[in-house]
Amino acid sequence: MTTVNVNGVDHQVDVDDDMPLLWVVRDVLGMTGTKFGCGAGLCGACTVHIDGEAQFACQTPIASVGTSKVTTIEAMKDSPIGKAVQEAWIDTDVVQCGYCQPGQIMRACAMIAKSPQPTDAEIDEVMYTNLCRCGCYPRIRAAIHKATGAGKVAA
Ligand code: FES
Ligand code: FES
Repeated sequence: MTTVNVNGVDHQVDVDDDMPLLWVVRDVLGMTGTKFGCGAGLCGACTVHIDGEAQFACQTPIASVGTSKVTTIEAMKDSPIGKAVQEAWIDTDVVQCGYCQPGQIMRACAMIAKSPQPTDAEIDEVMYTNLCRCGCYPRIRAAIHKATGAGKVAA
């Protein structure tokens, strides 16, 4: 048995040590907000927070998590940054198909926690790891500015 803390709750899971955290949260714990995209660390759809850092859950063996705190998109509505970002996402109509969006929000929130008013250059530098096949990048950037109080940028 492995104990993993997800969204503030300790869960005991009976899985192989090398099972990716992505499968633990989705298939074992039933939290399907975190998405599977490439499974190879190339798309960012699976982004979660581990001790506040944005990480690819598909590239994180469960045994490597240890006592770290995992946060998924399901808990972001309960944090001030997550709430502000999700409201800005809605106000800005960011979402097209939506598949990449939990990962985008998780990475944006981790960035904002460190840099409360990121510049366009900072946003590009941090967010490039999260791909959006629908091309929502201008609205993602605008929503980040809206959430951080810097006003909308031209989309
Ligand atoms: S599914 Fe993890 S980076 Fe693509
Ligand atoms: S909204 Fe469709 S992949 Fe990003």
